[in-house]
Amino acid sequence: MDMKVKLVVWFLFMLTAPGLGSAARRRNLEVKRHLSRLNKPSIKSIKSPDGDIIDCIRISHQPAFDHPHLKNHTIQMMPSYHPEGLYRDGKRVGKKESGGITQLWHKNGRCPQGTIPVRRTREDDLLRASSIQSFGKKKHKTIPKPPSYAAPQPDLINQNGHQHAIAYVEGDQYYGAKATINVWDPKIQQTNEFSLSQLWLLGGSFASDLNSIEAGWQVSPDLYGDNNTRLFTYWTSDAYQATGCYNLLCSGFIQINNQIAMGASIYPLSSYRSSQYDISILVWKDPKEGNWWMQFGNDYVLGYWPAFLFSYLSDSASMIEWGGEVVNSESDGQHTTTQMGSGHFPEEGFGKSSYVRNIQVVDESNNLRAPKNIGTFTEQSSCYDIQLGRNGEWGDHFYYGGPGRNSNCQ
Ligand SMILES: *[C@@H]1O[C@H](CO)[C@@H](O)[C@H](O)[C@H]1NC(C)=O
Ligand SMILES: *[C@@H]1O[C@H](CO)[C@@H](O)[C@H](O)[C@H]1NC(C)=O
Repeated sequence: MDMKVKLVVWFLFMLTAPGLGSAARRRNLEVKRHLSRLNKPSIKSIKSPDGDIIDCIRISHQPAFDHPHLKNHTIQMMPSYHPEGLYRDGKRVGKKESGGITQLWHKNGRCPQGTIPVRRTREDDLLRASSIQSFGKKKHKTIPKPPSYAAPQPDLINQNGHQHAIAYVEGDQYYGAKATINVWDPKIQQTNEFSLSQLWLLGGSFASDLNSIEAGWQVSPDLYGDNNTRLFTYWTSDAYQATGCYNLLCSGFIQINNQIAMGASIYPLSSYRSSQYDISILVWKDPKEGNWWMQFGNDYVLGYWPAFLFSYLSDSASMIEWGGEVVNSESDGQHTTTQMGSGHFPEEGFGKSSYVRNIQVVDESNNLRAPKNIGTFTEQSSCYDIQLGRNGEWGDHFYYGGPGRNSNCQ
């Protein structure tokens, strides 16, 4: 084309191109930019059997260091303190095959020393989000607020269709929490719903200043594009408004471990009346540096949230919760059929209902101990329920979950 023809074509294009076209182009550019912020240059990439790409990126290149407060940060390669527990961490309970729980991508390779494994974010992942800004963030007010001693009425109004079955403690200063969580693959009715099992460390009020650190497993089609059960973390210092995100999807958590990828699939999973698998999660505050550390299983100290990210949690947590959460979007005017835990009620017990066992808190002298005065909370026990128990081997534990919609839950 000569220059003149090009100009005419350009002019015609500008005349006819609808505003939508340029908005789409702008969005496209935004998506590309955001992807390059999230996906740092890798020195090795591993294709997981579930379709994920795991990029091994240099520790010092991880997303945390985009944070202006972390520009000169010296990475802590070890916590200065590790609380000791009351129980041995089991990895598999009951029956057959040995070998611990791990992540599916390990079947196809490992990341070298000096790097961390990061689940690659794809264009599709971003396009499923309602906006690029909201990608990787929880929607407002999804925290379960159980009835407290101070305000004995549960706050059920602002739950946005989220339902919980949780155990909790409050009224003390907590410097960490631990639990061993049974791992399942609950069915999700709608892609905009999710089902998760986790622990929460909370500080501040349940207003706009809530600080939260969360970790566990989740099935979230919107976030990951499939129904796989994945390891996740979350943090916020302002009740899910401007700060925080899942996994490494924003600057905050500093990962040091080269074996476990946040947001990657967990393997193997428990099945009904058959083998049961669980994961241990410990989150604790380093008394010297003030950072909040996370450990997965016996062997993997994953990294830490620097103390400066938080306000209340820069001192201690005022409440700990353990349990399940689902989104009930009532898309067909009825209660969702999205399952919590195994999809079976607590009454069914071991091998059928999902459990959380050996729940412990870290006290002011930095020891793990059994929590005092455990409360339970669920919005609708006919949909998802919880049952506490205590014995020698499992310490304080509970069964929780349910099928969602059933003849008693419509
Ligand atoms: C980082 O260190 C440099 C040089 O010491 C200093 O000029 C800069 O202000 C520091 N930045 C932060 C965020 O502390
Ligand atoms: C996820 O599960 C739902 C049913 O629970 C199914 O309709 C959907 O196709 C699944 N999605 C993927 C990506 O496998």
